[in-house]
This record gives sequence, C-alpha cells and structure tokens, in this order.
Amino acid sequence: MAGQVERLGLAKIERHIFLCAQQSKPKCCSFEDSTESWVYLKKRIGELGLTQGKRVVYRSKVDCLRVCAHGPICVVWPDGIWYQRATPEVLERILQEHVLGGRPVSEYVIAAPAEDGDQAEP
Ligand code: FES
Repeated sequence: MAGQVERLGLAKIERHIFLCAQQSKPKCCSFEDSTESWVYLKKRIGELGLTQGKRVVYRSKVDCLRVCAHGPICVVWPDGIWYQRATPEVLERILQEHVLGGRPVSEYVIAAPAEDGDQAEP
C-alpha cells in the first residue's frame, strides 16, 4: 500500500481536475466531445510532467457533475473553480493559465468560491 501511495504521488497532489466525460447519459455535451477532452487532458498532464515530481496534478473522469449544460464541465480542486465548455483548447488554457500560472480562465468560469467562502457565480 505505501509503495503504491508513493508511486502515485498522493502526498504531492497540488490540484485535482474532475472532468465530466464518457458519460452514461451524455447531457452537457456529446460522448465523443467529452472523450476528446478527456484524452487530451490525460495526454497534456503527462506531457507537462505533472504526474510525478514536485507538482502532481491528478485527473479523474466522472460520469456527471450535475451541471448538464455547456459541457464538458470540469472543476479544479482545491480551488473550487468550475468551468464550462472544457474543450481541448480550453483545457490547455486551464492547464497553462490556471494550474501552472495561478490565474483562472475567467471567460469559462461558471462558479468560484467567494471571498467569504461561499460559492459565487462570476
Ligand atoms: S452530463 Fe456533464 S455535467 Fe451532467
């Protein structure tokens, strides 16, 4: 167990991206579009060296994030920033500008924590 935990870099996870993809009932976008986004996200996280080392970014495919419109929908934790229309192009911006640069991609944000800790829409 400890070896697997270390191999996965669980203690070094900086961010975790959840993407609505390959849904059992596609509602926010087509199955094909979400698959394209999922494949792209996995590939780019690997290419950017974010699967191991100091900065580890996890990605998980989820069946539905309950927004069900203008997808693919994704959310970046622990920031609590929700995005719409997470196409490969938008995911690239999320990786470059938000994950690596620390600045959410505001034009695609649909919800983010407010200053007082409540969730707020932009
Ligand atoms: S099907 Fe994507 S958020 Fe519900």
